[in-house]
Amino acid sequence: MNEPHPIRPRPVLGRLPAYAAGKPPAPVEGLVSYKLASNENPYGPVPAVRRAVERFDAIARYPDPLSTALRERLSAHLGVAAQDIVTGAGSLGALTQIITTFAGTGEDGTPDEVIFAWRSFEAYPIVVRSSGARDVQVPLTADFRHDLEAMAAAITERTRVILLCTPNNPTGPVLTTREVEDFLAKVPQHVLVVIDEAYQEFVRQPDAVDGLDVFSRHSNVAVLRTFSKAHGLANLRVGYSVTHPHVTQYLRVLATPFAVSSLAEQAAIASLDHLEDVMERVDIVVAERQKMVAGLAEAGWSVPETQANFVWLDLGDRTPGSWRRPPARRCPCGASAPRACASPSASGRPTHGSCSCAGSSGRPRTGSSGPSQNARICRSGSRLDRDRRRVRRHGRSSPCTIRRRHRLRRPSCRKEPSACWTLTGPCTRTPGSRPTWRT
Ligand SMILES: Cc1ncc(COP(=O)(O)O)c(C=O)c1O
Repeated sequence: MNEPHPIRPRPVLGRLPAYAAGKPPAPVEGLVSYKLASNENPYGPVPAVRRAVERFDAIARYPDPLSTALRERLSAHLGVAAQDIVTGAGSLGALTQIITTFAGTGEDGTPDEVIFAWRSFEAYPIVVRSSGARDVQVPLTADFRHDLEAMAAAITERTRVILLCTPNNPTGPVLTTREVEDFLAKVPQHVLVVIDEAYQEFVRQPDAVDGLDVFSRHSNVAVLRTFSKAHGLANLRVGYSVTHPHVTQYLRVLATPFAVSSLAEQAAIASLDHLEDVMERVDIVVAERQKMVAGLAEAGWSVPETQANFVWLDLGDRTPGSWRRPPARRCPCGASAPRACASPSASGRPTHGSCSCAGSSGRPRTGSSGPSQNARICRSGSRLDRDRRRVRRHGRSSPCTIRRRHRLRRPSCRKEPSACWTLTGPCTRTPGSRPTWRT
């Protein structure tokens, strides 16, 4: 009875990192709660889209598999040929189509390689690995930007695709036109460079790259965009790629039939028809972003230059699965070792035995909430920072302070603070001495 069933999935499934979806918002009486981790649009779609959705009455019909009307509308809007636009179930659907078309395993069984910066969009390693290709993750620079020099140096004869995420999710900085042009000069023509611009509408930096502009000059460049963020249509799943004909012809072969519903198509068209209203809301989010960054700076935080609808808070070792400083495998004191992993999975999360109170909830990012919630976040950011400063000033906290704080902050955690990785960092007790704590 306990024998494993002989139906087995492809071995690659065992190598896929779990997608760490954002934690759902906790209900707070008297307030609208927002989920911060998915960078959604707190204002939702514009009224014209809601009206189009209400009018929709073709639920029993299959959609147009080519999303012809939307591609034509996008063609007029973007100034690119409609046949070079391929729609997908979100830009994630469009990205999956590109990866599965151009990267996998070669005729000799060797995996192709796909290069991207890390940390970046959580889904990249999953999409790449499930195609059979190998993901080559190039760590971000100290200021949370793509390390384009290192990414160019990582190109091998097996490289098929390179992903550039601008603004980068989750850190926020953009790539500039100059940086991308210099980078492309080092990329061989047979390598497809995909510029993921999910947050393009929120960018205000004058020298930021415009993917379509670069696309118009380079035959090995593709662009991804979405209606999920600025247009507030995340649930309807509609995004698209823009590629050159020698790329598009292969994308069509692997297209998932009927990936975009007619409802999503009509909503996207209505949103494009009311772009001024959409951009008015985007402007509000950008203004909130500026306020948020200023509030956090005032509270003592140094956050990366963000051009998206979110802000990255670097909590260092307290970030579950921090990719820059992976936690030590064993606690030096042995017996009470915090169970953390020295070889985090590609997603940066511990692959075994992480403290159960860490969860994926502590993702240190914030954004996409309303003004009053943003103000609350700045205030609690400032409390956190005050806590850190106090510890710095008075030296390390004693174990009992830590225990008290632990219970206060993580009431549901049954572990002793020494076993709770997220709260304390590793215990540095040497056998026989008093415990000390990193904060
Ligand atoms: C950088 C980036 N690309 C793509 C996506 C996928 O968005 P969607 O599939 O909703 O278009 C996201 C979503 O968070 C993202 O952050």
